[in-house]
Amino acid sequence: MSFDLSPFKVLIKERCGLLFEGDSTDKLAHALKERMAVHALASMAYYAMLQGNDGEFQELVNLLTINETYFFREPEQIRLLVDHLAPRFLAAHDGKTPVRILSAGCSSGEEPYSLAMALLDKYGTSVGQLFAFAGGDIDSTVLTKARNARYTDFSFRGVPEEIKQRYFDKDRWGRVLKEQVRSLVSFHELNLLASEFPPALHDFDIIFFRNVSIYFDTPTRKIIQRNLASLMKDDGILVIGTAETLANDLGVLPQVEENGLFYFVKGKPPLPAASIPVARPAFDALTAPLPPAPLAIPSAVPLTPLPIAPPISTLPVGDFELARQLTCDKRYDEALPQLDAVLSIDPGHAAARLLKAYVLINRKDFGAAEALAQRVLAADTWSIDALLLLGLAAKWRKQTTESIRCFKQAAYTRHECWPAHYYLADLYRHSGEQELARRAYRVVVQLLSGSEPDTGIRHIPLGLPASEVRFLCEHQLAKLPAGKLPAGQK
Ligand SMILES: C[S@@+](CC[C@H](N)C(=O)[O-])C[C@H]1O[C@@H](n2cnc3c(N)ncnc32)[C@H](O)[C@@H]1O
Repeated sequence: MSFDLSPFKVLIKERCGLLFEGDSTDKLAHALKERMAVHALASMAYYAMLQGNDGEFQELVNLLTINETYFFREPEQIRLLVDHLAPRFLAAHDGKTPVRILSAGCSSGEEPYSLAMALLDKYGTSVGQLFAFAGGDIDSTVLTKARNARYTDFSFRGVPEEIKQRYFDKDRWGRVLKEQVRSLVSFHELNLLASEFPPALHDFDIIFFRNVSIYFDTPTRKIIQRNLASLMKDDGILVIGTAETLANDLGVLPQVEENGLFYFVKGKPPLPAASIPVARPAFDALTAPLPPAPLAIPSAVPLTPLPIAPPISTLPVGDFELARQLTCDKRYDEALPQLDAVLSIDPGHAAARLLKAYVLINRKDFGAAEALAQRVLAADTWSIDALLLLGLAAKWRKQTTESIRCFKQAAYTRHECWPAHYYLADLYRHSGEQELARRAYRVVVQLLSGSEPDTGIRHIPLGLPASEVRFLCEHQLAKLPAGKLPAGQK
């Protein structure tokens, strides 16, 4: 049975923003057939029903959302909350009202519960007085799951046993979150495209809006960002998923960078002296999903055991391992003198040169980074790290042709280097080379379909999370129209 999906696509996009193009069209067709069968209605009769029946629209939406989530996802942003944002908001509060935190698009609750557990770890039982946590989602099924707080292994990717034991009880079906954490979070139905929001969803200090915006087009993202801003206090902060942040720099809220992470601010939040308002990069980073600065993301990583390097005054000088660790921890100001010390003892230390180039790119000192990477490449023409660094530096300098050349060279040198294909795909997409982009995204999906291949990257902590990159590629593939290859390309 086939029927015209377009009126349904329009209705769904208008009401909740979700887009169905390319491969995701199958999902829509499948869901519609299921609901039409329940009511024994043909397509246009079901369409008429949907228009006047909010309950039925909800049933349909519940079949259409993508609810992928897990505990302690993107742990660096959670660290930012725990170590920097929360203390700052607490200091600025009068102590009488809690700091209000919303997870917008919370799915089955792993995100808001992770935030609550992370702050519980730091503030102990007073967390309930200091903070109020809420989760909101358009999908009523996931909200029920969130309230039940029962999870299978799928939600715990990479979460250490110690955290599972501390906050969860085991039962026949999985693990149930302890009441101590459950009682901290309230859950609410929330359509981010609504024209009005219930009073419980106003006046937030911090909103986490992660891994949701990828389902919307740019005009919808703008509307949603304005809506989120209306739910924030005047000094509120909006944290968007690392891979989505720059694609959400839409001129609605100003963006700031702190410790290599980006977020948006509404008015004048309690900022640390070191926060720098971000000037829009010249490159089309507006839509580039994975810029160099916030790349060093460990995959699902625990909160507690992130290795912490000692304060700078006690650091031994010229210790490469320490320099590497500081770079991985994004403590670039401390990493740089360490790397310089290593290089002063051993100027040909290739790994130190590469790490230094990586740090310099993160500090936007592209010329010096390129010089270092070139020197490594002169000694080792097969260095994937050096080729990627050169590609990234060129990308940020808006030298698209050069950037493509470097990433191509990395991909030719080592086909399994999926980050090179991924960067190429993005560059092609932004240059309007749709078919080349499709091909490159497909290669990434293929390479990431089995066990993770050896990318050939030896030193630089790119930290692109493979599962999320694969997901983003699939999403792009669904959106990209099939096109013709440019002349001369096969
Ligand atoms: C991929 S999950 C992200 C979960 C979590 N934020 C995370 O980062 O792990 C996206 C969620 O956004 C929700 N969503 C999609 N459109 C929405 C809308 N218009 N309003 C509210 N939530 C929406 C979906 O139901 C889904 O649960």
